[in-house]
Amino acid sequence: MKILVINGPNLNLLGVREPHIYGTRTLSDINDYILDEAKKLGIECEFYQSNCEGELIAAVHSVLGDDYAGCVINAAAYTHYSYALRDAISSVNKPFVEVHMSNVHSREEFRHTSVISPVCKGIIAGFGEESYVLAVKALADIIK
Ligand code: DQA
Repeated sequence: MKILVINGPNLNLLGVREPHIYGTRTLSDINDYILDEAKKLGIECEFYQSNCEGELIAAVHSVLGDDYAGCVINAAAYTHYSYALRDAISSVNKPFVEVHMSNVHSREEFRHTSVISPVCKGIIAGFGEESYVLAVKALADIIK
């Protein structure tokens, strides 16, 4: 069983970007951690990151085929306004779990809105890198 973990804009800068919010581990460190934890659940993971909306949409479309059973997505700032990403997710008949490292509801008001939540199975926010692992666990329960 394989899943895709998608990360959106500026998450390639994890480790240097606002460490008081996102911590000091790089995306590559976090991906290694997710991979290890997923392996314990018998789940294979692939990872994709882009700063471009169209490329993220293409990655969401790639979940359509037989390769992936579902997807964990941190759409970063696109979460809050990308109807195109939302339409892409709702076009793919596979479970998506929305993830945020920070507790978006304790931050600026614009982060309180997610246009992708209604088309995702659920949301995990506020647990740093652990948010991804919790999302993988939730997804594993759905797809197994
Ligand atoms: C984020 C929260 C978003 O509001 C922000 O734009 C991000 C990261 C998070 O993981 O906490 O880039 O998705």
